[in-house]
Amino acid sequence: MVGGVTLRGVSKTFKRESSELVHALDNINLDIAPGEFVTFIGASGCGKSTLLRIIAGLTEPDSGDVRTDDEPVTGPSPDRGFAFQDHTLFPWLNVRQNIAFGLKNQPTERLATLRGGKLTPKEVKAQITSDVEDWIELVGLKGFEKVFPHELSGGMCQRASLARALAAHPKVMMLDEPLGALDAFTRMNIQDEILRIWQARETTMIMVTHDVDEAVYMSDRVVVLSARPGRIQEIIPITLARPRARSDGDFSLLRAKILDILQFGGIRQTPDYYL
Ligand SMILES: Nc1ncnc2c1ncn2[C@@H]1O[C@H](COP(=O)(O)OP(=O)(O)OP(=O)(O)O)[C@@H](O)[C@H]1O
Ligand SMILES: [Mg+2]
Repeated sequence: MVGGVTLRGVSKTFKRESSELVHALDNINLDIAPGEFVTFIGASGCGKSTLLRIIAGLTEPDSGDVRTDDEPVTGPSPDRGFAFQDHTLFPWLNVRQNIAFGLKNQPTERLATLRGGKLTPKEVKAQITSDVEDWIELVGLKGFEKVFPHELSGGMCQRASLARALAAHPKVMMLDEPLGALDAFTRMNIQDEILRIWQARETTMIMVTHDVDEAVYMSDRVVVLSARPGRIQEIIPITLARPRARSDGDFSLLRAKILDILQFGGIRQTPDYYL
């Protein structure tokens, strides 16, 4: 199986326009197994998005080593998909064209290998067309194929951008708060869809969320990052059998444990005033 990720001593400091230095990440060491589902959770600004961008090859770390399947990450690759936090769809493309973008802009040879290398270029094209329609259906955007991003709700944009990223069949998929703009019911449905795709494709999933329930429901391991500079504070393995029940006693215990750790990470701060 492919899609392993290794992080060794990864640190990153940004220089703001005011010349102020922001120490975003400090000495991150982590091994993510091929096919694993790992979630990062931590206070706002602790470097979660930066870490995903580093793994995706979109941001260069100041120091440290980042590898996927033992290959150093030197830039973006279609094998490493990314759904951004701010669900950036291309404004000049409609929903169907946006979702198709990830599939179409790849070397034909790579697309053919996705189906066991048995397809002719013509068959690959037909497959793309049918895959795109499947994705539109899957994320509930049927009837909105020709609609442009500015005419969609935030949740719809988020679903379209998730479909665009997953449709490209990456080996490692990075999801940066992919469901943040969704209502609770849609969110639970899409969580199940992501899990279904993850299991069917054996893709490695690396997700950022602020939702502890979502982390426990979906992950093999939850990585809690400390407040800036982001350091790995604790890694919690979630060994509950799948599919998971959110009302389960062990589920609640894990949720409580993570919330407890986050309290020390600075999310819930002691108020400095009293009524
Ligand atoms: N390009 C940049 N230039 C300067 N500072 C940056 C840049 N990108 C991120 N930062 C800073 O690095 C820190 C970490 O940012 P990052 O976006 O990784 O946090 P985050 O954990 O994803 O936060 P959130 O939960 O709010 O999305 C922040 O203080 C942010 O202001
Ligand atoms: Mg972020």
